[in-house]
Amino acid sequence: MENLVIRKAVLSDAEALSEVLEELTVAGKRTRPSDVDFVRANYIADPDSIRCTVAVLNAQLVGLQSLKRAVERNPYGVSVGWGVIGTHIRPSAARLGIGRALFRETLLATLAAGLSHIDATIGARNAEGLAYYEAMGFVDYRQSAGTVSKKFAV
Ligand SMILES: CC(C)(COP(=O)(O)OP(=O)(O)OC[C@H]1O[C@@H](n2cnc3c(N)ncnc32)[C@H](O)[C@@H]1OP(=O)(O)O)[C@@H](O)C(=O)NCCC(=O)NCCS
Repeated sequence: MENLVIRKAVLSDAEALSEVLEELTVAGKRTRPSDVDFVRANYIADPDSIRCTVAVLNAQLVGLQSLKRAVERNPYGVSVGWGVIGTHIRPSAARLGIGRALFRETLLATLAAGLSHIDATIGARNAEGLAYYEAMGFVDYRQSAGTVSKKFAV
């Protein structure tokens, strides 16, 4: 993919990222909010964010990967100090290697932040999400109602 750019998200990406999340919602792959304010608050400008990385393919924003630090009383119940990852790729750009390229960048941020582990919590029936994190080297460590949590040892 010659025309793939991987870079840090900036606030002005919020509208395009909102479109990415909306495309996922329409495809039945997302139930959480997708609006611009949510994108800013939860991904680009979240105070617990370590790195929010975007992928731009042929000048179109096609995905994001968020790496946050798990803080006290985090909603995911993840060990404090671990990273928490989320990945969202436009369905029309899936399986092109974009998730793999994003994880290379996230891993660099993980190392720079000195994290020991990354948590990925995925819907138990989300076969592509489970397969993706397995391919990136994550292994199962926890299950709760409807979700599987995988960890990556840095
Ligand atoms: C899951 C997701 C992040 C994968 O991103 P992607 O850019 O399509 O992934 P890549 O093309 O880089 O694939 C990397 C590897 O992951 C695995 N993988 C990815 N999608 C897969 C699928 N649909 N079925 C099986 N394996 C899959 C494969 O091993 C793949 O390597 P390969 O293509 O060489 O076989 C993307 O499909 C997505 O955003 N889905 C909706 C949201 C979601 O479920 N996010 C994850 C939970 S937060």
